[in-house]
Amino acid sequence: MSDDSKKVLYSGMQATGSLTLGNYLGALKNWVKMHEEYECFYGVMDLHSLTVRQDPVQFRANSRKLYALYVAAGLDPEINCVYFQSHVSSHAELAWILNCFTYMGELSRMTQFKDKAQKHNDNINAGLFTYPVLMAADILLYQAHLVPVGHDQMQHLEITRDIAERFNNIYGDVFVVPEAYIGKQGARVMSLSDPCSKMSKSDENVNATIYLTDDRDTIIRKFKRAVTDSDTEIRYDIDEKPGISNLIDIYSAVTGKSTDDVCMEFNGKGYGDFKLAVGEAVADELTPLQKRYEELLKDKKYIDECILRNDEKARYVSQKTLRKVRRKVGLLDIK
Ligand code: TRP
Repeated sequence: MSDDSKKVLYSGMQATGSLTLGNYLGALKNWVKMHEEYECFYGVMDLHSLTVRQDPVQFRANSRKLYALYVAAGLDPEINCVYFQSHVSSHAELAWILNCFTYMGELSRMTQFKDKAQKHNDNINAGLFTYPVLMAADILLYQAHLVPVGHDQMQHLEITRDIAERFNNIYGDVFVVPEAYIGKQGARVMSLSDPCSKMSKSDENVNATIYLTDDRDTIIRKFKRAVTDSDTEIRYDIDEKPGISNLIDIYSAVTGKSTDDVCMEFNGKGYGDFKLAVGEAVADELTPLQKRYEELLKDKKYIDECILRNDEKARYVSQKTLRKVRRKVGLLDIK
């Protein structure tokens, strides 16, 4: 079933909130073509979402919506294994075992834990603390060589590698030790109202974020309002001109042009023209995705069939690893 000649690539997103242009340009858009080179697994990481209190009805709906967005963005569930984390029980099982190979000290150093604990200080639950162990289980179950992750998840990938190496040192080569996949132009999309911080799903200022489901007028309006400097030159300079540089990055990621070419194209033009061009380019890019998304939302049967079929494959692949781990640590299996 799996193609042994290809390296394995694993990634996923949490099933919370609406995806942003940052999620799309930084991750999803790049995932679509990875299957040409790698055997790819992409999860809807719904178990991870439970570390924060969710409204059950909304959460359920959002989870299926995220799957539909994956597919609408071009992630083909016939070619990639696109599945639900919580439908494959090996994740929770391996996470438990790996918990016993992870130290409190190393988990306490995770900056995301510290940030989230501060933000949700009425609910600092153990799941929030062991979140990286579940993530390690996700990756290690599929023997992934490569994990495309954003900057904010690098520390979690590091701990995954540490856990894998620790386990391998005791039991022999059980896990592939994964590496970060650094994309060619993995765009880091910044907030439109504060270009020094990352574009975020949960920004309180709605003008800061482009959601994948924003309509054309909204997208263009938000880009028109994007914060830039008081200079007039369209030049790429992250330190001096973070706002304009962010727009150049976005335009470049959407059109495939280099940042130099973008600067040349708009040489002598004003910020107003440039912002409009970026807004239109983004809207053009997202229109087909949105159309497909609307269609898919109406075709629940198709989506659910894709989920069931892919869950099955994920179960098959992950159980191979889990069986090996069980044997290594000495859990009794009766054949
Ligand atoms: N923690 C990741 C994020 O918030 C989501 C995630 C969970 C993930 N498990 C993963 C990403 C495994 C890559 C691989 O972005």
